[in-house]
Amino acid sequence: MKLNPIIAGNWKMFKTGKEAVEFISVFAPKVKNSSVDIYIAPPFTAIYQAAAAAKGSSILIGAQNMHAEQEGAYTGEISAGMIKAAGAEFVILGHSERRQHFHETDEGVNLKVKSALKAGLIVILCVGEMQSEHDQGLTEEVLRRQIEGGLKDITAEEAASLVIAYEPVWAIGTGKTATPELAESAHAFIRKLLTEQYGEKLASQISILYGGSVKPELTPDLMEMPNINGALVGGASLKIETFAAIVAGATK
Ligand code: 13P
Repeated sequence: MKLNPIIAGNWKMFKTGKEAVEFISVFAPKVKNSSVDIYIAPPFTAIYQAAAAAKGSSILIGAQNMHAEQEGAYTGEISAGMIKAAGAEFVILGHSERRQHFHETDEGVNLKVKSALKAGLIVILCVGEMQSEHDQGLTEEVLRRQIEGGLKDITAEEAASLVIAYEPVWAIGTGKTATPELAESAHAFIRKLLTEQYGEKLASQISILYGGSVKPELTPDLMEMPNINGALVGGASLKIETFAAIVAGATK
């Protein structure tokens, strides 16, 4: 069974609420007839307005991070329930920029995954090796640690709301996209890890997205790979034309 493609935009720390509304009001009509599942994760402050602008379209709005606790004395933090109330239907967790700049660990990411799934959010769990790990041939070791750690004690029932994003750190924002073959080999390994944990049937239903310098012209070749079910797009999701072209490139 071929999974329906997912094209997700991670806007990182770009765009205000007003800019998000402007983007979505032009972008949504362009992708209206697409069969692809489209996700957009704006900054926290734009979620509410983006969700309102996306209402009635097939675009899902989500967040780029959250705190694992539901509420508490955690100055500056935001919970799963809060992003959900603002209109988020998914959350990106364990992004390499969170791991690198904010010292997130697999244990911490695992707590967030549990909390998000409990709140009824779809989780996009990001994994991927750094350049030095890639050079040392440690990719599979890193992926095993991140998948097993991030999904520790996540039940099969909960895993049904899970999406994995393979984002090799050396490909993020560098213009250096992984070749379809290289990405496929990492995706196939992730599928194997998911099969070990959840069995073949469920593992075959979990979408695995590729992320790292995704561009319109490279999307069709990536999407042809059997274990690549979509893309998580950074820079190219900030422009209406390029993001719409990536969506078009992912359409069968
Ligand atoms: P770029 O597409 O800008 O390389 O970013 C990828 C990414 O980090 C998506 O989460």
